[in-house]
Parts: sequence; structure tokens; C-alpha cells
Amino acid sequence: MVPSGTGQPIELPRPPMPEPSTLVIFGGSGDLARRKLVPALYNLLLDGALPKHQAVVGIGRTPLSDEDFRKTLREGIAKHSRRPLAEEQWSAFSQGLFYQRGGVDQPDTFRQIKRRLEQIETELKLPGHRIFYLAIPPQSFAAACRGLEQAGLAQPPAPDLPFCRVILEKPIGSDLASARAINDCVGSVFEESQIFRIDHYLGKETVQNILVLRFANGIFEPIWNHKYIDHVQITVCEAEGVGTRAAYYEEAGALRDMVQNHLLQLLCLVAMEPPFSLDPDVVRNAKIDVLRCLRPITRAEVERFTVRAQYTHGKAHGADVPGYRREPGVNPDSTTETYVALKLFLENWRWSGVPFYLRTGKAMAKRATEVAVQFKDIPQILFNVNPAAPLPANVLTLRIQPEEGMAMRIVSKVPGTRAQTHPVEMDFKYGEVFAAPSPEAYERLLLDVMTGDASLFMRRDAVEASWAWITGILEGWRAQGLKRLSEYQAGSWGPIEADQLIQSDGRAWRTP
Ligand code: BG6
Repeated sequence: MVPSGTGQPIELPRPPMPEPSTLVIFGGSGDLARRKLVPALYNLLLDGALPKHQAVVGIGRTPLSDEDFRKTLREGIAKHSRRPLAEEQWSAFSQGLFYQRGGVDQPDTFRQIKRRLEQIETELKLPGHRIFYLAIPPQSFAAACRGLEQAGLAQPPAPDLPFCRVILEKPIGSDLASARAINDCVGSVFEESQIFRIDHYLGKETVQNILVLRFANGIFEPIWNHKYIDHVQITVCEAEGVGTRAAYYEEAGALRDMVQNHLLQLLCLVAMEPPFSLDPDVVRNAKIDVLRCLRPITRAEVERFTVRAQYTHGKAHGADVPGYRREPGVNPDSTTETYVALKLFLENWRWSGVPFYLRTGKAMAKRATEVAVQFKDIPQILFNVNPAAPLPANVLTLRIQPEEGMAMRIVSKVPGTRAQTHPVEMDFKYGEVFAAPSPEAYERLLLDVMTGDASLFMRRDAVEASWAWITGILEGWRAQGLKRLSEYQAGSWGPIEADQLIQSDGRAWRTP
């Protein structure tokens, strides 16, 4: 496929160039800063999307000098940046990178941060805009916010003052009560308009494209409902196992780690009503309506509507993968689920009776995230008269990653004198159509925080609405005990129980 029409992309109004600011990263010596955040800033700078003077201050317990910090970040960029490291640009960029040792529970930390910020801002002639990024465990969010408040670093927004914003990295809590407690605490220090809760899936190009597909094309909206759609599958499979994150993952599990945020956000974009404008709150209102329509999965239903499982030893991509319980740092008796499949319904007019099947897992056959919208079968007439071999239904597949694109399965006539049909795919690949590679999710998200655009961030009510629904399932699982924790072989497509979940409705999982 090639871009059609005039061949010129149609530009929406561009966000203004953000003013220079300082990004203060709590958890600055950690993986996120090195692999994602600083490479994202570096790429924005190369793209000309950021002003030249921009500072980053990493805060962490590890003792590091500014030079050590810059060295680690340089390695991070060399390894993880979308664009290669260019000496000249790096040299200018690295002058704005600083490190301050400290922990959020140490009273001195915040006074030192304040002093350091004032000194850096004077030196680099920055106007004093500050963004505090909490890339630390959620248990420390409260201490960080209180520390910022006590040091006078958390001013409310005012037209004549530099801005002050805070970014919260997930997970925001582990159930509804803990999410509320975090939101209360952060909300007692910052106003909601200053708080940016990240779900990095929302920064992915292909995820943003869901709204464009639905509302910039005339053909989808009229058929995007229960009259034409049979069901929807949302799949987020990861090939990697738990890796080095056992300490966090043991407490979280797949439901909290992936479904509560990323999968439910994909669901919102697929199922929401058309917003009447692109104003951040109008879009977010439309999305939260989806969460409010989720039919609760009660304790009695949890067995019928959900499957949870753990990977066992297997082979993935030719390599041996240990079972989850044998991964480094995992309790040998762990009951944490590494896979979830579930069926849900939305109780509204548009989606009445349409099942949404969601699944996610680690150590699976391959990495693939996709949304597949399956349309209803056609009547058994004309080309579809053989009940033993019915024609396959149309499926619109949005490939979120890694092979970004979109495909539509249609039935076509096989050329020749015989009346033969065959399903074919109309396929659109980002890589073929658009020359430039997509920016990383964190690039878009950091830029949006700098310009103050909250469209792609989770509002407090949405976080709590999704936790409310997830907490119902967690309670059901607790009541059910462990008898329903299934197993699947690493490198497979998941447990047999997940197949049964969808097959009992006369449907089947797609193989992405
Ligand atoms: C994170 C989860 O939010 O998303 C990880 O904590 C997961 O467990 C990751 O691996 C997946 O992100 P992506 O962008 O690689 O699909």
C-alpha cells in the first residue's frame, strides 16, 4: 500500500515548542531513565522538537558523579536510542545532565535538590519550569510528594509562575484502595492538572492511530457496533519471561501489570463513543464511559470468565526457558499468574451482547500486540452455501507491535474458470508506507507533559474505575483459591483452559 491522494500528509495544528524545563527523575540511576527517558529526550532534541537548553537531574541512592551519570546515559543512548549517537549533539545535550544523590525518605534530599535546581537553572539560564518524574515504587510516591511540598518545590499552577508538573509511573497501586490512597496523597500536594499518570501504551503510534482509524474514516463508524461485529480480541503477548523484574512482578502478576492498564486502555479506544472534540478532557470522558460500562465479573463468574496461568519450562526461539518458579528471584512456590485470558461485556447500547476477549502473557510463542475486530458471518446463501465449509468472516486487525500495521481479511474470487473463493488480506505496513520510523512512546509522552497536553494520560477517575473492576476479579480469585491456577509451556500460545474459554462460545483465538 502507498499513501494515496495528493501524497501530502494532512497536518493538524502543531503543539507549540515547549519552553525549556528541567526534568527531575526520582529513580534516576534506574533502568527507565537509561533505556527510555533520556534516549527519548535526546531524540526529541535531534528532531528539533525541544529547545536547546534542557536539563535533566537524576536523583538516586547510588553514589554517582555527574560524569558517571552522563557515562551511563551515553551507553543507554548508544544501545537504546531510535537515532544513533551523534558526537556533536551528544556533547551539547550531555552538558544539561546532572545527578544528585539522595533517597525520598532522607530529609536532606529535598533541600539539596532545591539548591541544585536553583544553581543549574541560573547556570543554564532556564526559566524554572520543573517536571518531577516519579520512576520509583508506588510505596514511595507519598514520601516524594511530601518532600517536594515541604521543600517548597510543589507550587500550584499560576499564570505568572513557571510550571511545576509531576509524572507518575505505573503501577498506581495494587488494588482500588491502594490506588485511592496514592491519588489522595499526590492530590493533596498537586492539583489534578499538574499530575500526569503514564500508561506508555497510549504513547505508541499505533495506539494513537486507533482513534484516527475510527474517526478520520467514514466507513468504520456505521458498522462499529453489535449489529455488525461478532466479537473483539485484544492480545498482548510477550516472548520474554519475567527477566530481572521478579521482585516487582511477584507482587503484581499479569492482571495488575498489564490488564489493569494497557489492555483496558486499548479496550477504551476500541469501544468508546466518538468524542465531540479532541480536547483532552472530552476524549478522556469518552474513554472513562467505557470503563463505567464494564459488567463486573462476580465471584461466582470468575471461573467462567477468566483464566490465569503460569509458564513452565519450555523452549522459546531455540533457547531453554526455565519455568516461572525457577526464574531468579521468584519464590519456588509462587502463585503469581504470568498469563491472563478473560471475556468481558460492556453494558451499553453499542456493544450489547458483543464479547471482548482479552489475553496477555509472558514467555509466549512470540511478541505480538494486536486488536482484532471480527465481523459477523454472512448468511448461508450465494457463495456461502456449504455448511461444512463456511466462508471465514471479515476481520480487521490492528497490529500494534512489533509489525506495525493493519490488515483486513476479505473473501476474494480465485482467478480461473471455476467458482472458487479464498480469504485474502489487504495489508498496510507502517514501515512500507511511511519512511520515518515511529517515535518511541516516551518521546511523545514527555513532549506532551512539557506542553501541558494531558490527552494521553490517565485521569484519576479512570485509574480508579479500572482498579474497581480489576479488584472484583482479584477478590474472585482470592475466594477461588489456587485450584484454578493453570500452566502453559514457555514458548506456547498459553494454557488449554484459555482455548476452552473462547471455544465454549464457538470461537477461537487468532494466531498473530
Ligand atoms: C510494562 C510492564 O508496563 O509493559 C512489563 O510492566 C511489560 O511487564 C511492558 O513487559 C510491555 O511493554 P511493551 O511496550 O514492550 O509492550
